[in-house]
Amino acid sequence: MRIVLVGPPASGKGTQANVLTERLGVPKISTGDMLRAALAAKTELGLKAAEAMNSGKLVPDDVVIGLVEERIAQADAQKGFILDGFPRTVPQAESLAATLDKSGTPLDAVVQIDVPRDLLIDRATLRRTDKRTGQIYHLKYNPPPPDADLEHRADDQEETVRARLDQYDAMTAALLPYYEAKGLLVRVDGSGAPKGVTEEILRLLSERKS
Ligand code: AP5
Repeated sequence: MRIVLVGPPASGKGTQANVLTERLGVPKISTGDMLRAALAAKTELGLKAAEAMNSGKLVPDDVVIGLVEERIAQADAQKGFILDGFPRTVPQAESLAATLDKSGTPLDAVVQIDVPRDLLIDRATLRRTDKRTGQIYHLKYNPPPPDADLEHRADDQEETVRARLDQYDAMTAALLPYYEAKGLLVRVDGSGAPKGVTEEILRLLSERKS
């Protein structure tokens, strides 16, 4: 299965990708996680991406395209993958399609997770991630265990979250119609509990397969 998860900041892409990777037996590829790791390691890539990320803007297409091309060429991604947060622009989507066409392994579906804006601010500002395990928690909805090594993302301050939401609205104006025209887009209501959202995604994916 080759799947893309699209959705506004804090809609649950990472949460769902962590579960789907287990359920479907394919790796999660998150450009946000890869960029944050580069930032933490202070690599050239991380330093290039830092300004855009910390102000809620998109990192330039060529930077993320290179990152994903390299990652999907790795052995574990040959049987499929769940892309979390990529593509976000039409040039990124076109570049991904060209890469997958070359290997004759097109995308199976693009899952759009919809959540109302007022819920997203609350989800983002109270999100905490365990640095050691990558597990995603929420101080209200999914509290972390006492021994978790918690991190509060620099871009999860309310003002930056609002900038990211605006950026998402601007970007999807072109990206979602692109995938809709290709017949790849499926929509899921992401406002319910995480387990229900996972089951709905799996149901829609199996419906497409049959
Ligand atoms: P990225 O890390 O991809 O951020 P994002 O898209 O803004 O998404 P988030 O990680 O904020 O949220 P999520 O949807 O994964 O939600 P989560 O599961 O954590 O990107 C960060 C930055 O990197 C970008 O701003 C950009 O600068 C750069 N970047 C990345 N990719 C790029 C690209 N392709 N091109 C250019 N730039 C790029 O859940 C959020 C919270 O809600 C958690 O606390 C969770 O516990 C909780 N939660 C989840 N689901 C539920 C539920 N159903 N009910 C209740 N709570 C829930």
